[in-house]
Amino acid sequence: MKWTAEAPSNIALIKYMGKSDHDSNVPTNPSLSYTLPHLISYVEIKKSAEGQEDTWQPLIKPECDKLSLSASAQLKFINHFRKIKALYDITDSFIIRSCNNFPQATGMASSASSFAALTKCAYKAMSDITNTHMPSPIEMANISKLGSGSSCRSFFAPYAVWSSTEINSIELPYERLIHQSIVISSKPKKISSSQAHRLVQTSPKFNERINNIPMRFTELVSAFKNHDWRSMYDIVKFEFLEMHELFSTSATPFHYMESDSWQIIDHIEDIWIKNSDGPLITMDAGPNVHLLYRPEQANLSNELKDFFSKKYAVI
Ligand code: PMV
Repeated sequence: MKWTAEAPSNIALIKYMGKSDHDSNVPTNPSLSYTLPHLISYVEIKKSAEGQEDTWQPLIKPECDKLSLSASAQLKFINHFRKIKALYDITDSFIIRSCNNFPQATGMASSASSFAALTKCAYKAMSDITNTHMPSPIEMANISKLGSGSSCRSFFAPYAVWSSTEINSIELPYERLIHQSIVISSKPKKISSSQAHRLVQTSPKFNERINNIPMRFTELVSAFKNHDWRSMYDIVKFEFLEMHELFSTSATPFHYMESDSWQIIDHIEDIWIKNSDGPLITMDAGPNVHLLYRPEQANLSNELKDFFSKKYAVI
């Protein structure tokens, strides 16, 4: 027997940064994300021979480069699977295979899509074996977030909202955007996002941010509803810069920004100044820059792709 599932990645416009409970990944603030349907993780689960342990292996698929995971990343993946197995009282052993359709060497975070795909696939297998119904996306998202917080948003599209009390889709205009990721570095991060979630809480700016987010959230949703792309750009940019400011003002300062990240931020700002229009810009806990365009900005997205491709990988 073999079960398969796939799930997309997502990019947050209002970031999840800081947890009120680190064990069960309860966010200190609500986040809002756009789901990236072209960046996919695939998972396959198969029963293994009796007496074997659960194991992870790379999934070989034409869409994917062969994935390699560190021993600790494999264990994290297997432990998340075991959590779901335990919910069904299943003691059989399984081989879990996974891969991403975006190359690992691009430094693109794959935890959101891979944990969402693993959760879906594990539920498919367990509900099949126990002859029970598949849980709802909200139920699966609530379990997925235990493996990787941001993965819970990948269960909803095109936009998802996640707070300490809810995970759901949110209906907003701009249902289809063009996404580009400019890869400045593919080196593994020195500070993992789990460490960042802890460290930011030592920043003197953390509480102020938490107090300001509900208003920022409302303003961003209004900007969407008013088709006010310019305000969306301003809010989304302010938001990720503020998150990066938490990193540099934490008790042990750290940073992901590189001078190339700043150059791209400035380049996009210049485009906005020149044209009174441009893409949205955001960054996660890494040096790479994400751009989002409206469909009618396809020409601009092609021009910028050609421009940035001279120096960086553009995914
Ligand atoms: O899901 P985690 O623990 O990898 O946290 C991801 C946090 C950010 O990517 C920086 C922001 C976000 O909301 O996705």
